[in-house]
Amino acid sequence: AAVGAWQWSVDSPADRLHLTSRARLPEPFTVPLTMPPVLAPVARDDTTDYYRIVQRAADVEVLPGYSTPIWGYNGVFPGPTIVSNRERRTVVTHRNELPVPVVVHLHGGHVPEESDGYPTDLLYPVGGSGGMADRTGMAGMAMHPDAAAHTMIGERDYTYPAGQPAATLWYHDHRMDFTGPAVWRGLAGFHLVTDAAEQRLGLPTGARELPLLLADRAFDARGEFDYPAVDSTLLPTPGVRGKFGRGVLGDVVLVNGRPWPAHRVATARYRLRLLNGSNARVYRLRFDRRGGSVPIVQIGSDGGLLARPQELREVTIAPGERYDVIVDFGECAVGDQVTVYNDLGAGTTTRVLRFDVTERVPDTSVIPHRLTDFETLTRAAAVTTRRFTFRQGDAGGMRGWVINGRAYDPGTPIARPTLGDVEVWQLSTDLDHPIHLHLNQFQVLTRDGRTPSAADRGWKDTLYLTATGTAEIAVRFTDHAGRFVLHCHNLEHEDMAIMATFTTVGGGR
Ligand code: C2O
Ligand code: CU
Repeated sequence: AAVGAWQWSVDSPADRLHLTSRARLPEPFTVPLTMPPVLAPVARDDTTDYYRIVQRAADVEVLPGYSTPIWGYNGVFPGPTIVSNRERRTVVTHRNELPVPVVVHLHGGHVPEESDGYPTDLLYPVGGSGGMADRTGMAGMAMHPDAAAHTMIGERDYTYPAGQPAATLWYHDHRMDFTGPAVWRGLAGFHLVTDAAEQRLGLPTGARELPLLLADRAFDARGEFDYPAVDSTLLPTPGVRGKFGRGVLGDVVLVNGRPWPAHRVATARYRLRLLNGSNARVYRLRFDRRGGSVPIVQIGSDGGLLARPQELREVTIAPGERYDVIVDFGECAVGDQVTVYNDLGAGTTTRVLRFDVTERVPDTSVIPHRLTDFETLTRAAAVTTRRFTFRQGDAGGMRGWVINGRAYDPGTPIARPTLGDVEVWQLSTDLDHPIHLHLNQFQVLTRDGRTPSAADRGWKDTLYLTATGTAEIAVRFTDHAGRFVLHCHNLEHEDMAIMATFTTVGGGR
């Protein structure tokens, strides 16, 4: 049986819980877009940049005229953006002033086990774990002697080695069984990696490089984030039981924590680092100008730059995924508006944000034909093929989501890849799941038995599998021996056991 207790049971997996806000919502495109603050290092030495983040509760204005309590990295949502350089090591000290244990995961990071944010490697609140264990179910984890190898109290360092190529990564909470509510309350931020090769490309930068975290939320009548269960109970919430087998959806689309914002732009190319930080919502984004669609040039995927830029008509982005794209407002006239629509939304969630063209400028940015070089992983290089099926099933006595018939169990690995090897993993599902691997980026070999579409190119760490979908991915496991997870990035699914441990062996340390 799985450890912990499942907050919710799943009686009807086909339903998502659609929450409807009871607060007064702003008209779309009346609130200005803002950028998360960029975090300055507290120290540097020859090899390393040191950062410090305090996780704490705060009240922020999300909806105009309301104060919303959040849990924030440094008290902001999204958290501050960390910008790492490929040549340098990054150490982030996290201090937990929240009332619950936390786990920090660097999503997409190539990181050793002890800093990866394994779901039971808890950082307890400052002041110790007294009382917390009982309140939040952590007591159950004692059933696995090895469940929490890197648990600490108050503060700890997460160390991210140098060497990772330029990419749009993000960090977020990852505590076993409680990731959904913690992220919903605000525990997510960008972590960008840059390098000299990327900086030489001449891509839009400065005010024309916008990290955009998309996340839907719902608000109660007081303007507080609404969520069907709070962190203080282990019991299934009466009345909502079984209603959100496919995750929690809000009716307000936030971009960088602002509801349906608007942003003033010049007649130039902009680099948009799109991140879907939603718990369960999938978006299909289209950039519309006067009823016509503005082309989207994709330059990067989850794990970094593509080899070559490619034009997409729309971007389908599932929870956890990133699309690094260039949108050119150069053809626009001052006064034009470019509206980003979500073609998978309904009602209030069909709109995302709007760009208002307010200034004519010369543009010296370019999109080079070649962006980067990387090894293409092939089936022929693989030494092992493994199959993973993601389905509904028994999760610790209640219905939840399982991988190969098994609910998440921190103590038992599902696979033991050898470091240095390429493996092919065949993924299949009977419902929509964004599948995420820690430790290494992968490449998509096939989708539903066919060549994948352009949107699957490049290095991926999260792959959106749709109902009855299959995919084959190739991954080379490298550098870090230890245990990592593979899971669905629909956070309510993740909290309902659709996660498994794989342990990398050999090589490394
Ligand atoms: Cu973004 Cu294992 O998570
Ligand atoms: Cu899922």
